[in-house]
Amino acid sequence: MNRRNFIHITATSLAFSALPILPALSHNVTKYKTALVGSGWWGMNILRCAIQAGESKVVALCDVDENQLKKANEEVTKLCSDQPKIYRDYREMLAKEKPEIVIVATPDHWHALCCIAAIESGANVYVEKPVGHTVMEGRAMVNAARKYNRTVQVGTHRRVSPHNISGMDFLKSGKAGKIGMVRAFVHYGGGAGEKLPEIAPPKGLDWDFWCGPAPLHSYNAGIHPRGFRQYMDFANGQLGDWGIHWIDQVLWWTEEKYPKKIFSTGGRAIKKDSTDAPDHQVAIWKFEDFTLEWEHRLFAGNEAEKTNVGCYFYGTEGTFHMGWLDGWTFYPSNKNKPIIHEDAKLNEPDSQNIKELWANFLDCIKTGKRPASDIEIGHRSSNVALLGNLSMKLGRSIDWDGEKEIILNDPEANKLLRRDYRGNWVYPS
Ligand SMILES: NC(=O)c1ccc[n+]([C@@H]2O[C@H](COP(=O)([O-])OP(=O)(O)OC[C@H]3O[C@@H](n4cnc5c(N)ncnc54)[C@H](O)[C@@H]3O)[C@@H](O)[C@H]2O)c1
Repeated sequence: MNRRNFIHITATSLAFSALPILPALSHNVTKYKTALVGSGWWGMNILRCAIQAGESKVVALCDVDENQLKKANEEVTKLCSDQPKIYRDYREMLAKEKPEIVIVATPDHWHALCCIAAIESGANVYVEKPVGHTVMEGRAMVNAARKYNRTVQVGTHRRVSPHNISGMDFLKSGKAGKIGMVRAFVHYGGGAGEKLPEIAPPKGLDWDFWCGPAPLHSYNAGIHPRGFRQYMDFANGQLGDWGIHWIDQVLWWTEEKYPKKIFSTGGRAIKKDSTDAPDHQVAIWKFEDFTLEWEHRLFAGNEAEKTNVGCYFYGTEGTFHMGWLDGWTFYPSNKNKPIIHEDAKLNEPDSQNIKELWANFLDCIKTGKRPASDIEIGHRSSNVALLGNLSMKLGRSIDWDGEKEIILNDPEANKLLRRDYRGNWVYPS
């Protein structure tokens, strides 16, 4: 789709603005004006659930890539009778549509600006993880949610997955005994890879806008869509992408809100491609009562280890594995006792529980309760991952004051809790 077509879609869609948009939650109408910012893979997974829940009227789709928008728009118009308007700039979309719900499913470096602008415009927000690209972005998101009293749900759907809930009940009931250590991990195979040629961005993609507040990179076909995860200016590698899901499970289990001491190391022992995130990494977080360890590897994928994703809780009564596709399993220390297992209950596509998280989001909008993956919870879990990367970047351990959200006695480290934005974009405070 070229620029002319893009404008055409906007103009066509504008024609529908003449249609009355019904207010949400009046006596007989319960549809929320809903907008999607970032209409790629996961954004569409969320929007599909929103449509299926039957309480959303899709008023806008917003993306800086017309190719993504075109696909998304085609799907929405097949799924329901809504005729969303098409936008490139989320600020224009928020000003014109005044949505009541905004889904933010952009790459990570955009979460904070889009989420805060949506909150300030009066919307409730479902924002993807990790909440911010740097720690202080997440803090600004929490502050905005509280200041404007909006419901802000983070996309950590494992908080509402049936097997994660029953697994957490098992752990919290003490059946695994006293837990002194947790090991979270994600291991995938892969090889060195090859450098991708730097080419002109595809027609219809506003690459400068895509990079936004982050440094402007040369475009290569591996970054967008979906490949940004392994570029540290736009995301936080495997720890920021996958790690936060498992860290979130650990923070759900423990009474502690944050770690006290953090150390991480890793590197790019194998990868030779265009990405720059570590291809292997180890991180250790010292909590008051236990130690959390993270490991990831993007090579040596094989069946030597029993499972490649999840976290092991090591207790005096046995070892509990919280997994994904493989549910949860408890291996008792006493060999005479049976292994206990529960299968996962996941939704397709992509084996997730967005439907349940969306239902909780809607319920909390109505009741004013804090959602299962409230922004503050997501912020704390994101911080654990981001602080791991921060330690790896510095090459030394850091001491974290989680109440004040500062690193103790280390001015150089504290500077990395935020970063300078490019051009006219302003870092949120
Ligand atoms: N909770 C989960 O289990 C889960 C799973 C997958 C992805 N995610 C998260 O979802 C987010 C999106 O990931 P994805 O795999 O769908 O990526 P994607 O590349 O498929 O989609 C992101 C879209 O955002 C668009 N975009 C970039 N800047 C924008 C801006 N300023 N305004 C509007 N649109 C913009 C891109 O053009 C792209 O179409 C990431 O934060 C990722 O961590 C979460």
